[in-house]
Amino acid sequence: MNMVKIFSGIRPSGKLHLGNYLGAIKNWIELQNKADQVIFMIADYHAITTPYDPKTYQQQIMDVALDYLAAGIDPDKALLIRQSKVPQHTELAWIFNTITSVGWLDRLPTYKEQLEKTGINNMGLLDYPVLMAADILLYKSNLVPVGEDQVAHIDVTNEIAKRFNSAFGETFEPVKPHLEEGARIMSLQNPAKKMSKTSDEGIALSDNPDIIRSKIKKAVTDSGKEIKYDPDEKSAITNLLTVYHLLSGKEIKTIEKEYDGKSYSDFKNDLAETAVNFLKPFQEKRKEFENNPKKVLEILEKSEEKSRQLADKNLSEIKKKMGLI
Ligand code: TYM
Repeated sequence: MNMVKIFSGIRPSGKLHLGNYLGAIKNWIELQNKADQVIFMIADYHAITTPYDPKTYQQQIMDVALDYLAAGIDPDKALLIRQSKVPQHTELAWIFNTITSVGWLDRLPTYKEQLEKTGINNMGLLDYPVLMAADILLYKSNLVPVGEDQVAHIDVTNEIAKRFNSAFGETFEPVKPHLEEGARIMSLQNPAKKMSKTSDEGIALSDNPDIIRSKIKKAVTDSGKEIKYDPDEKSAITNLLTVYHLLSGKEIKTIEKEYDGKSYSDFKNDLAETAVNFLKPFQEKRKEFENNPKKVLEILEKSEEKSRQLADKNLSEIKKKMGLI
């Protein structure tokens, strides 16, 4: 059987939220037990393509490491790395630049969205998916657990892999995105928009109980009063139902029955308590790691050392095939 090699990452561009957890990290934790190679990365080179504060950046990077560990990523099963500590990522990205068509990149919705949002059109933003392809293919990974917004980037990864294979010989196997039910969690304020880090529209994993309660209370709902899963007619309630389902493990049908005849506010109160209870053990575990920064750094450094070795081996093969060595 083929080896399963998992790779994924998150940008340290703000507090992680329930969308990041339900769309990505929840699946990472399940998959880390079932794979032959597992690497989870903090994408610190990706996050500098949009405005950020250099003064707090190291702290933001460490915050993501703490979130990974508190969520249950097991350093005995997965390597946990900072992208910039494994320089082969950017080296391979340059190599891939030479076989990537600009036309694969400038039509991507994520690129266009960022451009619209920030008005800043830097090369890094355009080149972002090429660095992502390098992240994934540097370790010959073949399974990438992500939310829906990243699928177009994995398509680009496969285009690059195919072009490399045909130009320089069979090297990379196809990469599959791994998506589950939480792949697209929407904003609490606007169910047409995905939950994001930059706005106040999501629940951060570190939000305290009062903030969680207040955010859910203020979440927009749909007209009518039925608690029903209906993505077309009731997109706000459908999103809240999905979150409830994924946090509680209860089936959607069961939740619908439970709230038959009850009000939106009954439902929201219970959803808030479910979220508070769900996040409590996470937040406690996070404090333990916060109090032990030396251990966290050790985990990162050990993982990065191992990753550099894996990366060296694969990059040498790639360079040999290209006549670079
Ligand atoms: P980022 O930091 O934007 O998001 C991290 C992960 O969270 C998922 N996600 C969501 N899932 C469901 N609902 C949402 N509202 C939601 N918002 C975010 C994302 O899909 C993603 O899985 N480019 C990547 C980081 C990266 C990467 C990689 C990922 C760099 N290299 C290689 C995979 C493989 C990013 O910016 O994710």
